[in-house]
Amino acid sequence: MLLPKFVDELPIPPILKPRWKDQLQTYYEVNMTEFKQSLHSEQNDTTVWGYEGSYPGPTIEVESGEKVFIKWINNLPEKHLFPVDYTVHGAHVDVPEVRTVVHVHGASVEPESDGYPEAWFTKGFERVGPYFKKEVYQYDNNQKSVTQWYHDHALGITRLNVYAGLAGFYLIRDNRERLLNLPSGDYEIPLIIQDRSFHKNGALYYPNQQDKPIKGLETSIVPEFFGDTILVNGKVWPYLEVEPRKYRFRLLNGSNSRFYRIKLDSGQLIYQIGTDSGLMEYPIGIKEIILAPAERADVIIDFTNLVGKNIIVTNDAPAPFPDGDPASAVGIVMEFRVSLPLTSIDTSVIPSYMEPFSKIIEQSASKERYLTLNDNMDQYGREFMLLDNKTWDAPITENPKLGSTEIWYLINLTTDTHPIHLHLIDFQILDRRDFDVEKYNKERIIHYTGPALPPEPQERGRKDTVRANPKQVTRIIMKFGPYTGLYVWHCHILEHEDYEMMRPYIVIR
Ligand code: C2O
Ligand code: CU
Ligand code: CU
Repeated sequence: MLLPKFVDELPIPPILKPRWKDQLQTYYEVNMTEFKQSLHSEQNDTTVWGYEGSYPGPTIEVESGEKVFIKWINNLPEKHLFPVDYTVHGAHVDVPEVRTVVHVHGASVEPESDGYPEAWFTKGFERVGPYFKKEVYQYDNNQKSVTQWYHDHALGITRLNVYAGLAGFYLIRDNRERLLNLPSGDYEIPLIIQDRSFHKNGALYYPNQQDKPIKGLETSIVPEFFGDTILVNGKVWPYLEVEPRKYRFRLLNGSNSRFYRIKLDSGQLIYQIGTDSGLMEYPIGIKEIILAPAERADVIIDFTNLVGKNIIVTNDAPAPFPDGDPASAVGIVMEFRVSLPLTSIDTSVIPSYMEPFSKIIEQSASKERYLTLNDNMDQYGREFMLLDNKTWDAPITENPKLGSTEIWYLINLTTDTHPIHLHLIDFQILDRRDFDVEKYNKERIIHYTGPALPPEPQERGRKDTVRANPKQVTRIIMKFGPYTGLYVWHCHILEHEDYEMMRPYIVIR
């Protein structure tokens, strides 16, 4: 039985308050705990995990250049909310079941504060993983205004920790953005979209097996997880009452595996002003937005002249993407109701120009890397995915030099789109191009079968997550820095990331 839609109002996560702040630095403490929260008013409260007693976690708002220190504190129970698969890398029986480590997705930070998957820690920092052992993370925020998010990244259980609720927004602001006069204050709202399933009693449901049980395994990782219910900011199919004016929304796909292709049923345009890694050069008016897990879109929706109208945000992305089942039950995301009176004249604007965007030219690259996305089979007959045919534990092969520019060819030999994410840097998408997969499998030669397609308009900006489509080579270009050391790159389908579709990489001097 599915829960009725548009019963509850959209919650807006609170802004996190610092423990202290002076002119030089800001210090936060963030506790991770288990608690109950109402995700739908006609269902029992649900046990979730959250930061500072909130799912999604409180929004962290900082200024560009602000020196921020955060002590992430694990105060979670010893037993996981969901079934752990002990055969998955990093989650064997020799480590504690509940481990956490926090990554700010999109942040440019030193390796010790990046949330390396093996830099996990347990309750009270009692046990720690083999890497870094740092209790207070440092964020320099040497970036322009951008929509980032923080989420758990513990090796082998990231999918379960994030599903339990460990995710929130991290926004960097700056003066340039302020001068643009974008909708702000009450008219700027972050929206994290996630799919979940529930037991009858209101508890979150996460499968402990694939379709057929696997011999010798009590609990098995699933190839993907798709919930039958959509939540925005932790509420099931919510509504939001708006004034007839412009609003800015920070859209984030915080789902484990599900992609969204979002439209407004009014048929009106969505004005996109930002990509994953910040503002675009010019706004674009689009009818639909695709968001793979971890992708963000900064958008403006204009409700002026729509007094009294209800506008439904729809989704028609198949799952798995792009050739899976139709969205059907999850074809609706939320509703806007233009029901509030206009409290003041809307003087905000959709700017005609936002900020300079300098294209990285291909000729500046000193290295090209050819990296495959492949299928594999484990000893239990389960399919799993690899990057460059290598497991997490294989020696590091991606070792860019500090300050150098590289082009990565993501050669997708699988049948699904994988959102590929690199830590530390942002990149630009050069192009995507169809190629002959069979020939590649036989001869290891890329034989292109179509023209190089430029990135979609919504992707023409700085990105940190790119959709690598099946049967295509997706090329990205980026400059590595400003830090050296150990980071990761991975597929952001969390079920893939947790089962080998992640690799360490190192920036060297
Ligand atoms: Cu959103 Cu490696 O993370
Ligand atoms: Cu990240
Ligand atoms: Cu994947």
